[in-house]
Amino acid sequence: MYLTSEEEKILKGESGVGTQKALELLVAIGDAYDAEKMVPIARAHAAASGQEGDLYFVELLADGGAKCKVPTSTNPVYDIEYFHNSFSNIPEDEAEVARRVMEGYKRLGAVLSWSCVPYLNENIPLYGEIVAFSESSATPYVNSVIGALTNREAAQSALAAGVIGKTPKYGLLFKENRKATHLVEVKTSLKDEFDYSLLGYCVGKAIGYGIPVLTGIPKRPSTEEFINFCAMSNTSGAVSMFYIPGFTVEASTVKEAFQGDAPKDKTTITDKDLKRANDELQTFRGEIDFVQLGCPHYTLQQVAEVARLLYGKRIRDGVAFWVCTSATTRMLAERMGYKKTIEQAGARLVVDTCIDEPCWISYKQKVGMTDSPKCAYYKRFREVIVGRLEDCVDAAVKGKQR
Ligand code: F3S
Repeated sequence: MYLTSEEEKILKGESGVGTQKALELLVAIGDAYDAEKMVPIARAHAAASGQEGDLYFVELLADGGAKCKVPTSTNPVYDIEYFHNSFSNIPEDEAEVARRVMEGYKRLGAVLSWSCVPYLNENIPLYGEIVAFSESSATPYVNSVIGALTNREAAQSALAAGVIGKTPKYGLLFKENRKATHLVEVKTSLKDEFDYSLLGYCVGKAIGYGIPVLTGIPKRPSTEEFINFCAMSNTSGAVSMFYIPGFTVEASTVKEAFQGDAPKDKTTITDKDLKRANDELQTFRGEIDFVQLGCPHYTLQQVAEVARLLYGKRIRDGVAFWVCTSATTRMLAERMGYKKTIEQAGARLVVDTCIDEPCWISYKQKVGMTDSPKCAYYKRFREVIVGRLEDCVDAAVKGKQR
């Protein structure tokens, strides 16, 4: 790969070990994909986690004196003090890893958003910008809904790009590689954002790796519907980009999305497929120990809906109820009174965390209910029930699924 004289100097370590290691990683990726050169990026999002794999690379760069050159936001880890007060059983070595990861990102000058939907508030790409975004919902959302250009980054490659302010030019940074590959005919009624999660699950499973064009979508999906579709299609499959002509920004027709080529494959998704997906994700029916919402992090509108559904109700004793969101959203929810309503019902609005973090160790052997197929897909709890938000609230109040 061609490197500028400045990049050559960084590779020799003249700007410090941290930037050297970041560039080494990017050059290795560029070489693997036959990239000709590096290109500047406007911003990055690192799918951080409070786990050991992340710790090594973050400290390697931070100890080596690296600093982020462009805004680089961070995925959820967890608020260690908050969770220590709630659960006494988080092993100290696990908490220490999370503490060090968070400190490492701080030393790197990252935007400490600890949110998996940074593209809504803290780090919003513009149309046409080249960026380096990791995280399942973020990559397809940024490419398809916003029209910025990103490859499907890992936490480490996104962080390295944030430090160097550049990424190797390959893959989805070229128009010809943004060509659609699969045609997906949607023949379901798609009532709400839960159905969009199930649709994403079906599409990801059906095509695996590719860029689908969806037809038959009756109306413009809401922000939350887009988020859920992105998160799930890029979890059950590897969907970094998709088209819904008329509603996503690139390609206003199916033909344009395929850039004149024929689809590699065609699939139809019906009500039966959504039902099958829903059934596949259930491992249990009956009494529950807790409800977990906000995977991906809930938007303000979703938090408002939880508050509306919980208003005047009381969650059954012995059932925990967690709503995960970003710090920005919780601040607004507090101002608007939603947080108070949620807490009065016995639920908690928690920031900076993810269901995939070790802080939830107390729930490992319990039965949980969630409105997130992605949360269920990770199988972090003994048993899981997946349902619409209103069914989760109902189950929390009664102590069991209706
Ligand atoms: Fe977000 Fe974690 Fe779910 S990063 S999408 S809460 S698995």
